[in-house]
Amino acid sequence: MNQLPKLLGFQLNNQEWFAENVSLLSIAQKYGTPCYVYSKQALIEAFSAYEGACLRLDGSRRARVHFAMKSNSNLAILDLFAGLGAGFDLVSGGELDRVIAAGASPAVCVFSGVGKSVAEISRALQVGVKCFNVESIPELTRINAVAKQLNLIAPISLRVNPDVDAKTHPYISTGLKDNKFGIAYESVLETYLAAKNMSHCNITGIDCHIGSQILDINPYIDALDRIFLLIKELRTHGIEIHHLDIGGGLGIDYGGEEAPNITDFANTLLNHIESCGFGDLEIIFEPGRSLVGNAGLLLTKVEYLKPTEAKNFCIVDAAMNDLMRPAMYEAFHHIEPVVQKAIPQNIYDVVGPVCETGDWLGKDRPLAVEPDDVLMILSAGAYGSSMSSNYNTRPRAAEVMVSDHQTYLIRERETIQSLFAGEHLLPKKNEG
Ligand code: LLP
Repeated sequence: MNQLPKLLGFQLNNQEWFAENVSLLSIAQKYGTPCYVYSKQALIEAFSAYEGACLRLDGSRRARVHFAMKSNSNLAILDLFAGLGAGFDLVSGGELDRVIAAGASPAVCVFSGVGKSVAEISRALQVGVKCFNVESIPELTRINAVAKQLNLIAPISLRVNPDVDAKTHPYISTGLKDNKFGIAYESVLETYLAAKNMSHCNITGIDCHIGSQILDINPYIDALDRIFLLIKELRTHGIEIHHLDIGGGLGIDYGGEEAPNITDFANTLLNHIESCGFGDLEIIFEPGRSLVGNAGLLLTKVEYLKPTEAKNFCIVDAAMNDLMRPAMYEAFHHIEPVVQKAIPQNIYDVVGPVCETGDWLGKDRPLAVEPDDVLMILSAGAYGSSMSSNYNTRPRAAEVMVSDHQTYLIRERETIQSLFAGEHLLPKKNEG
């Protein structure tokens, strides 16, 4: 695996890389590095690929996309998807306020997550989210109590843990028995029965999410089949399910993976649902990575080349705090110079300035580079900026969107001052 992933919105022209005809080098010069760059065209194309399956020819809907905003929660991206008709999957009060700030309606937001606080639940009830994806009986009890206090009814869906193996990285696999996520398959019926008896809960749906970066469609079919059995069983207990949320998780090409085509993937699942007799349900997809992953990259500048006895290091100005995925999951991101030079290649470990051995962005990469060259780290649109941190008091990177051959700064680089603006010294002794 070290192939260039299939990219939309970014092209090589005369030995130089462009985002929608804007030179990436010029973006690095204008906005500085490290800098995330997104292609609006690529975002729209990925969204349209889902819509290709979700919309019927007559304009009616078979399903709706709820963007999993944890993958990238920049307001400009949320606003773009909201304008295209997306709903949202969110997992915190912070994400709820963010999506409202981007202009989306809470009525198209599903609220997932295993640890919703009382404050988060009451805010979500007051603004009127579409539903709570509930992950345990204690959570259900809490939601019911908060709704009762506010004199509101909470729409709820139970997140089923279908116990299928999505065959992905253990840290991003969520549908197995020993994950913290969802309600164990055998306990789902009793949990629905408990919910039915709660005065301030209204059962609206059922959902599952089996993991992330999934390249095989079969685990989805297995999970659906298990959920169909539950829906039938629930009916015999007088519980009607109105929506089925299949979760997200579709994988992307990072460097040679055979990722399923989005439209084919969504069509296969929707056809399966319809052929099994569940076509009357409202269907929800919750993709994150497959919408934004390959629509974004991270620009970084080479600071130093450091040959050592064992390795050559290419030390760049981006680090694990900017893109955590390699350090956290040993994830592969393809790395290329934005201007391809006719100089000899060397094999490098591409590393950042952070004081951790785990601070690497790519290992054993053939690169023809010199100090001050700009590199692009590909497939960084998902779980890149949204997972970034300020470790080593490093300001978070700028973010730029290219749209119609223009560049727009969609997030300013943080200032160093802002990083400690909320911190306070203890009073000195003589100040009392
Ligand atoms: N729905 C739920 C309930 C989720 O937990 C997730 C992701 C999604 C949807 C979207 O999944 P996607 O389509 O993006 O695969 N930080 C990791 C990925 C964590 C995924 C967490 N849940 C990474 O960088 O690979």
